[in-house]
Amino acid sequence: MYKILEKQVFSPIIKLMVIEAPKVAKKCQPGQFVILRTHEEGERIPLTIADFDREKGTITIVFQEVGKTTRRLGRLEAGDCLRDFVGPLGTPSHIENFGTVICVGGGVGVAPVFPIARALKEAGNHVIGIMGARTKELIFWEEKMREACSELFVTTDDGSYVRKGFVTDVLKDVIEERGKEQIALVLAIGPQPMMRACCNLTREYGLKTIVSLNSLMVDGTGMCGCCRVTVGGQTRFVCVDGPEFDGHQVDFAELARRNAFFLEEEKLSLERYQSSGGCSCGCGCGGGQ
Ligand code: NAD
Ligand code: FES
Repeated sequence: MYKILEKQVFSPIIKLMVIEAPKVAKKCQPGQFVILRTHEEGERIPLTIADFDREKGTITIVFQEVGKTTRRLGRLEAGDCLRDFVGPLGTPSHIENFGTVICVGGGVGVAPVFPIARALKEAGNHVIGIMGARTKELIFWEEKMREACSELFVTTDDGSYVRKGFVTDVLKDVIEERGKEQIALVLAIGPQPMMRACCNLTREYGLKTIVSLNSLMVDGTGMCGCCRVTVGGQTRFVCVDGPEFDGHQVDFAELARRNAFFLEEEKLSLERYQSSGGCSCGCGCGGGQ
């Protein structure tokens, strides 16, 4: 069992948890992920690591409540335990001194961008951070990102905080202002339409762009084939070959189709969960462990 040591509520649907998981914390690197289960019969969900503390033996996760499992996770409190917390999984981010790197985080994608931006800055890069959210209330970790980056731009879709527009609007301006020759690499993490839009933009400038893919997963060890994606015309598994890939090579249309396979089942499962008062067994027990 893995104890939740701390919980922070960023918004009604975005939450942070610090999990006691010393073995994961000892080995994990920026860019890797964990697969967790809240309870014995629970679904396995992958979450990219948002932060880690090797001395304290903790891993930080930030998640958005979208379906039954993340709702259930969001109801847990500090002191509660997770049934499984497997990791670190996946290939770590490639960190070296590239020069100037732009790190783009969209929505909850800011969380996995944070440790990568910090590592890139520690490696000597000039890190330009861009973070965006739909509205002011959904912004989190602005100060942490400011520390992790050499400079930071913030944007909101509705203009309720700082600048109005998508992260891609800021990305375009930064590339135009600095000059594409000055930028060595772009990293983009967030919802798929955002990563795809970032790649479409940077392709025009010939700027290498890394994305972190969030495909459906089951085993997380390369055996079940659930997380299959096509990259550069070849089949790759997000859980072992990724989660990071060259965004210009990713077949985003196929990824979107595959991620939508179980939407109807996910919707039904959430409806059943909600109508039963939040329990998974359907008895209305309140969703306890
Ligand atoms: P969101 O829809 O609120 O978008 C966040 C920001 O991304 C927006 O403010 C905007 O700046 C930008 N954006 C969104 N769509 C865009 C488009 N079409 N073109 C240009 N920019 C665009 O994001 P959210 O609700 O926080 O994201 C939720 C999704 O992100 C979930 O599906 C989740 O699975 C995924 N996610 C992915 C990762 C990952 O590792 N790739 C990590 C966390 C979350
Ligand atoms: Fe099974 Fe990747 S999750 S192969």
